[in-house]
Amino acid sequence: MQAQARAQPNIALIKYWGKRDLERNLPAVGSISVTLADLYSTMRVTVDPSLPEDVLLVNGDASRSMLARVSACMDQVAGGPRPAARVDSSSNFPIAAGLASSASAFAALTLAADAAFGSNRTEHELVNLAGRASGSAARSMLGGFVELENRDHEVAVSSLLEPEQWPLQVVVAITAPGPKPVSSGDAMEISRKTSPFYDRWIEQQSEDLGEARAAIHDRDLQRLGAVAEHNCLKMHSVMWGARPPLSYWNSATVACMQTIRDLQAQGMEVFFTIDAGPQLKAICAPPDVTAVRDALRTTAGVADVMVSGIGTGARLIAA
Ligand code: DP6
Repeated sequence: MQAQARAQPNIALIKYWGKRDLERNLPAVGSISVTLADLYSTMRVTVDPSLPEDVLLVNGDASRSMLARVSACMDQVAGGPRPAARVDSSSNFPIAAGLASSASAFAALTLAADAAFGSNRTEHELVNLAGRASGSAARSMLGGFVELENRDHEVAVSSLLEPEQWPLQVVVAITAPGPKPVSSGDAMEISRKTSPFYDRWIEQQSEDLGEARAAIHDRDLQRLGAVAEHNCLKMHSVMWGARPPLSYWNSATVACMQTIRDLQAQGMEVFFTIDAGPQLKAICAPPDVTAVRDALRTTAGVADVMVSGIGTGARLIAA
């Protein structure tokens, strides 16, 4: 009764920001993302009825901070009384720093728990269970360009393009590797309750989704970049307008934005996006990836740079 699954983080191009239903963790808006190839989280679930309670090890160390969320996710997947389990989690990138580690971790955990507890959930159920654990995790269940549709009582994900249909490159500039000060879930609620821009954000999302969908369909990088940057900056404006204000950026995040603007001014087709953290992600075509990586690496305040292609969805792997 042991199962292991692996999933990659995804980078939101049209962002999920805001919750419609806190209890079921349903998003207030649809979103579009790309699933990465080279950064990943692995989750192993070992059912062990002799344990007094669930145990979580993150990269080999006992962790209590995420245990409640991990246990709740396994409860939901099992759907009834279940034995305790030991969960071994590992990631090959910094966790809790706005790099979507909860997306890859909960997508992998949902799959591994389903196999370990023998719950035999359908794919649609697994997507919803992953999304209940962390909204963005629903998107890491699939690979390539993924759209999450926000339906009445559930979410549904679909692949807009498979990874090989538009093999872009993502360059991640790490400006501060530590955990973020406010979780995205808490920040979304502060935004909903206090930001004067929140309602407009929700109103405009379907327009941005339509524009991004069309750009992805046409594989038009410039058009996709324009709407993705707009959507990203709009999400951060919602946060800046909140009380207390929420700002995840540091000076290196802004310097990285300027680096991308300089590359664009030289005629390069590259764009940036930033999630709930200070890291910047740049997206470009394969011939430009070395120039983008080198430009970000030499930007003041950048601690590290990682490069990834676009990858597949969550899957079970041999335990
Ligand atoms: C800025 O999926 O981490 O990355 O549902 O509370 O776990 P919870 O939120 P989470 O939020 C992601 C926010 C974002 C945008 C995005 O990924 O779409």
